[in-house]
Amino acid sequence: MQNFVFHNPTKVIFGTNTISKIGKEIEKFGLKKVLLLAGGGSIKKNGVYDQVVASLKENHIEWIEFWGVRPNPVLSHANEGIRIVRENNIEGILAVGGGSVIDEAKCIAAGFYLDNLWQAFEREVEIEKALPIFTVLTISATCSEMDPYAVLTNEIENKKWNIGGFALYPKVSIIDPSIQFTLPWEQTVYGAIDALSHIMEFYFQAKGEEPTSSIDEALILNIFRSIDTLQKNPKDYYARASLSWSAVLALNGISGSGLYGGDWACHTIEHGISAIHPEVAHGAGLAVVFPAWIKYIHTLNEPQFLRWARNIFGKENVESAVLSLKEKYRSWGAPVSLRDLNISKQEIPLIAETVWKVSKIRTIGAIKELDYNDIYEILNIAY
Ligand code: NZQ
Ligand code: ZN
Repeated sequence: MQNFVFHNPTKVIFGTNTISKIGKEIEKFGLKKVLLLAGGGSIKKNGVYDQVVASLKENHIEWIEFWGVRPNPVLSHANEGIRIVRENNIEGILAVGGGSVIDEAKCIAAGFYLDNLWQAFEREVEIEKALPIFTVLTISATCSEMDPYAVLTNEIENKKWNIGGFALYPKVSIIDPSIQFTLPWEQTVYGAIDALSHIMEFYFQAKGEEPTSSIDEALILNIFRSIDTLQKNPKDYYARASLSWSAVLALNGISGSGLYGGDWACHTIEHGISAIHPEVAHGAGLAVVFPAWIKYIHTLNEPQFLRWARNIFGKENVESAVLSLKEKYRSWGAPVSLRDLNISKQEIPLIAETVWKVSKIRTIGAIKELDYNDIYEILNIAY
C-alpha cells in the first residue's frame, strides 16, 4: 500500500430537512454577504431555492444571486461571477446545485484572488487562497461537495480542464437526498455512472490492497443496487440516500487511499468529448469511454481487473465482465458507444487532439501513460 495523507476538512450535513441549516452554518464563519450561485432554474421548481433563502434571511445573511451556470460550466460565466463578487463586497460563495454549479463556485472563489483564473488551469499559478465555499447539493455524482477539485471549459480554446487545491474544499455541504426525487431519470443514472467511474479510476490501479479494494467493490455493488431500486421507484428515499453517500465516498479520499493516485485516463478522454460536445453529460461520456479503456488496458494489470470481473460480475474473464458492465449501463438507458452519443467516426481525430492538448501540462493515464495513438485507439473501440 502506498503512503498517503487523509485530510478532508469539509463538514457534511446529511439527511432530510437539512437545507434549513445552511444559513446558520454560514453565519458561524462570520459572513454577512454571499453570492448565491445557481444553474438553469431546477431549484426554483423543486422548492430548494425557497428553503435556502428562508434560512439566509433567518440568519441575517445578505445575498446576491447569479444564475445560469450551465452543465459543463464555462470560463466566461465564471469570470462574470468573479466580477460580481469583486464589485459587491461578497465574502463567500453559496453553490446551490450539482457539480457544475459547485465547480464554478470554486472557480469564482479562487479566481477572486487571481489576475487571470485560467492561468491556474494551465498550471502557471498555484491556488493558495479562495473565498469560503458552501454548498447545497441537488444531484449526487461528482463529489465536488466534498473534494478539492473543479472542472471548467475554456470555450474559446476548447479545453475542459481541472484545478485542485486545499482551499477548494467546501467549508460545509448540505446533502438532502430527498430533493433528488425531482431529477430526470437520465441525470440520476449519469450521476451514478460518474461515481462508479471515480471508484474504478482508483481501483484498477491497485494491486489488491486492502481494505480499499474491498471498500471499492462494496461501493460499486451498492451503487448498482441503488440504481436498480430507483429504476423501479425513483422516490425510494433509502436508495437515494445510499446512492448519495456512496457518491461522496467515491471521491472524498476514502476510495483511493493507498492506491497510487488512480489512473484518470477515462476522465481525461471524457473531458475531451464534452469539451467539444457540451450537450454530452459527463456520466454519459464515461459510460462510453470506460468499457473501451478496460478492453484496451486490462492486460497491463490483469490480476486487479480479474478480481473486479469475479467480485462484481461473477465472471472468470475481463472481456465478459466488460460486456456485463455495458449491459448494466444499457439496462439503465445509458449510452455505451460514441454512436449512441450521435458522434460520428470522422470526429474521432478531433476529439483525440482535444484530449491530447492536456499533455502539455501532465501525463494522461498511469497504468499506461497514453500517447495520442492510444487515445485514438480507445476512441475507436468506443465507437
Ligand atoms: O441547471 P440546473 O437547473 O441546476 O439543472 C441541473 C442540470 O441540468 C439538473 N439538476 C440538478 N439537480 C436537480 C436537477 N434537476 C432536477 N432536480 C434536481 N434536484 O441536472 C443537470 C446536471 O447538473 P450538473 O451539475 O451538470 O451535473 P453533475 O453534478 O454531474 O456535474 C457535472 C460537471 O462536474 C464535472 C463534470 O465534468 C461536469 O462538468 N466534474 C467535477 C468533478 C469534481 N469537481 O470533482 C469531478 C467529476 O469527475 C467531473 O469531471
Ligand atoms: Zn467524474
